[in-house]
Formats: sequence, C-alpha cells, structure tokens
Amino acid sequence: MSVVVTVGGQWGDEGKGKVVDVLSADVDWVVRHQGGNNAGHTIMIGDKSTIFHLLPSGLLYEHTRCLIGNGVVIDPNVIVEEIEALEQAGHSITPERLAISGQASMIMPYHCQLDGLEEERTGGRLGTTKRGIGPCYADKINRVGLRYWDLFDEALFKEKVEKNVEQKNLILTRLYDKEPLNAKAVMEQVQDSLARLKPHVCDGAGVLKQALQENKKILFEGAQGALLDIDFGTYPYVTSSNTMAGGSLTGSGLPMSAVDRIIAIVKAFQTRVGSGPFPTEETGEIGNTLRHGGPVGEFGATTGRPRRCGWLDLALLRYVVRNSGIQGIAMTKLDVLSVVDEIKVGRAYNVDGVRYETFNGDANLLDRVEVEYDSFPSWDEDISGVRNFEDLPQTAKDYVAAIEKGAGCPVVMISVGPARDQIIIREKLF
Ligand code: GDP
Ligand code: IMO
Ligand code: MG
Repeated sequence: MSVVVTVGGQWGDEGKGKVVDVLSADVDWVVRHQGGNNAGHTIMIGDKSTIFHLLPSGLLYEHTRCLIGNGVVIDPNVIVEEIEALEQAGHSITPERLAISGQASMIMPYHCQLDGLEEERTGGRLGTTKRGIGPCYADKINRVGLRYWDLFDEALFKEKVEKNVEQKNLILTRLYDKEPLNAKAVMEQVQDSLARLKPHVCDGAGVLKQALQENKKILFEGAQGALLDIDFGTYPYVTSSNTMAGGSLTGSGLPMSAVDRIIAIVKAFQTRVGSGPFPTEETGEIGNTLRHGGPVGEFGATTGRPRRCGWLDLALLRYVVRNSGIQGIAMTKLDVLSVVDEIKVGRAYNVDGVRYETFNGDANLLDRVEVEYDSFPSWDEDISGVRNFEDLPQTAKDYVAAIEKGAGCPVVMISVGPARDQIIIREKLF
C-alpha cells in the first residue's frame, strides 16, 4: 500500500494519534489536511505521553517527513510552541522534515477572541474549543483570510492584516461592546513565530506530487471525526472543516486516483466533547464507568473537558462507512470494555414511524430517535497485554465480529491500550 487515508469514525478522540503513530513506523510521509489546534492527538511511548495539536503525529520517528496541507488552519504561536517542545526533546524539525503548504490558512489572535466571544454571547451554544477555528475558516470562505504565502510579500501581508483588523473592530465594538484592536500590535503578537515558520512554507501539493512520483508511502492523518464534518456531520454541532475522507483530497492536493485504502479509526464505544445530539449516550453511572475505565480516562486532550460517553452506534457508523468509502476499521480502546458487564451497541433508530439502520443525515432527527440495542457479554480478563487476535477472550472476539458485520467492513487492527506496543495487527497496511 502506498497511500492510506485515516478518518476519525465518530465525534473525535478515537485514538487517531495512537494509530497514526503505530502506522508511521512504516511510512515515509504523514500528512495533516484539515482542522487546526482544536485537535489533540495523544501518543504514548513507554510512560511518556506527547499531545500533538497541529503537527502530524508521525514526527516522533526520525525517518518520517510531514506535510501540513492547504486545508489546515494554523495558529503560528501554537505550532511554534509544539516545534520547540519537540526540539527540546531531541527531535530536529527542519524544513526538510516539516513542509507547510503556502495555501494553509493563518489563525490570528482575533479569531480566537471572536470564537470565545461568540460562545460567551450564546451561552456556549456549540461548545467549541475556542481556538479560533470557525472564525478562521469563515474568513477563508469569505475570501479575506491570511495564507502562509502572504509571508513572502511584506507590504501585502501588512495591508491584509490592517483590512482584517478594521473589519474585526467593527464586530468587536458594535456587536460585542469590546475595545478595538491595533493592527501593529496584532502583527507583533505573531511576527516571531511567523519568521520561525517561513522556511517551512512551500508548494505543499507539489511536495506531495513529488512523494507520489517517488512511490513513497504516505499516510493521511485525519483530525476530528467524520460526524463533526461541516457537510456530513451532526450540523450545526460540528467543526468547520471536511473531516470525512474527501477532505484529504481538497486539503492537500492529493489526486483521487492515488488513494489505495481508506481506514476509519473507531473507538469500541463512543464519546463526544461539546454540544450536540448523542443518541446512545449514557449519562448515568455506566457513562461514568466508561469515562474512568481506561488508564487515562475520557477527558479532552485539548480542553480537558470530560467527554460524554455511551455505546457504539451502528446507524451512525454505517453512515460514516458509506460516506467516506471506509474499507477497514482500526478499533481502539477495546481494553476499556473490560470494566462493564454488559456491552450495548446501537443497532438501528426508530423515529416518526420509520426505522433507520443507517442514519439519513438529518441531524434534526437525532434528538428524538429511539435506539434499538443489541447486547453482548463482556469479559473479566485484562486484555491490555494481548498481541494476537486468537488470544482474546471469545466474548471479545465475538464483539469485534459483530461490529465487522454491522459496519460491513473488516477490523484490521485493534488497540488494547494507549502505548505504542499495545496493538493487535490483523492486516498490515504498509
Ligand atoms: P485522538 O484525538 O483521536 O488522537 O484521540 P485522543 O488522544 O484525544 O484521545 C484518545 C485517548 O485514548 C488518549 O489518551 C490515548 O492515549 C488513549 N488511547 C488510545 N488508544 C487507546 C486504547 O486502545 N486503549 C486505551 N485504554 N487508551 C487508548
Ligand atoms: P481530535 O482531532 C473532539 C468539537 C468541539 C465542539 C465542536 C466545534 O482530537 O479528535 P471547534 O473548536 O472545532 O469549532 O469546535 O467540535 N471538536 C472536537 N471534539 N476531538 C476533536 O479533535 C475536536 N475538535 C473539535 O468540542 O463540539
Ligand atoms: Mg483528541
């Protein structure tokens, strides 16, 4: 396989960082193509955990090269902080190792401010991460945003910042009753970081094309999850980018014909941070048991918020598999299910007299669907040391088989703990 696209199969935090890190052992390039530092991808090596927000998770190997594609929104101060932390840990992050597409969008301090103010004004309507993601993508779509290419024309950059600040000041003062910003001060807040990043800025799609021509092994790291996709997610409770498989094409310049395999990373149960419908949510004791079930616990890697927990929802998973053309599943956190006696799985929805085995995309229905469940017995054994599928308890094997049947695609790897080696590989992807 030379090009594999990974997609978060639920509402995020499925363990993408962990799976991408495992797969990166065998790849040449890891590519991020959407989202920004709303993402929090955790990698555990031994007992040391690293959380990536913007940098592709493959960077912990010496041999990998990474690309941040045009579809990503990059906060310059955050990425520089991440680069410096890695450099302090002994990794060298040269322009050769980290390419940043010139067409990527720049998150400016006012984007974060506006994100926070709108959440405050609406009483936390969406529960965003307040990292400026929505306002930055809005500027991109409004065709006023700053791109990394703008760094190569100082006068143009200055003019664009001034025009943006002028417009944001109208919003800040008239809508939110706040003090206006000063364009020079805004530029000063980011100038050191931008100078550090400039040597990395390049023709990202060109870099990718070259890697494809050289037959390199390329892994696409999805951020967020397919149910947070701006078009296909549980709108309006979504993020502002295309998190489904298609985003990897528009967010990097990857030709459609180059994709060899599309894999969804799917937690063995389901979680969500922030607002929005969650038909299989367990709000009581069982939810709490799942939240505290693993060695790490279900708390946001970016914001620290407790994650809402519930059961795997096949009506939603089938929808994701269909829309992203998923050909295999990497299942994570199977070890956590040891903490419950009974595992439930949402099999179908009933609403307004209609039964749906696959969600139909109308997110307005999700608040009032009645979920039909299947029930499976759990297992008492600690499975975090298992490395071969055959060695799993029969009940765990049966559960995996039921998800394969329900989703209509094979489970190609199973993660049984946060650490790099806690993995069962059923099919090698590279
Ligand atoms: P991501 O955003 O999809 O990369 O996921 P996060 O890093 O936000 O959250 C996943 C959490 O689960 C992290 O703390 C991981 O270290 C942890 N994790 C990943 N895979 C497994 C697993 O198979 N079992 C357990 N118990 N924890 C896991
Ligand atoms: P990773 O990549 C989980 C959620 C937020 C909020 C909604 C919109 O770690 O899986 P935004 O700040 O993007 O405008 O917030 O999306 N959200 C995530 N939830 N994991 C993430 O990333 C998320 N990124 C955004 O909680 O509900
Ligand atoms: Mg996360």
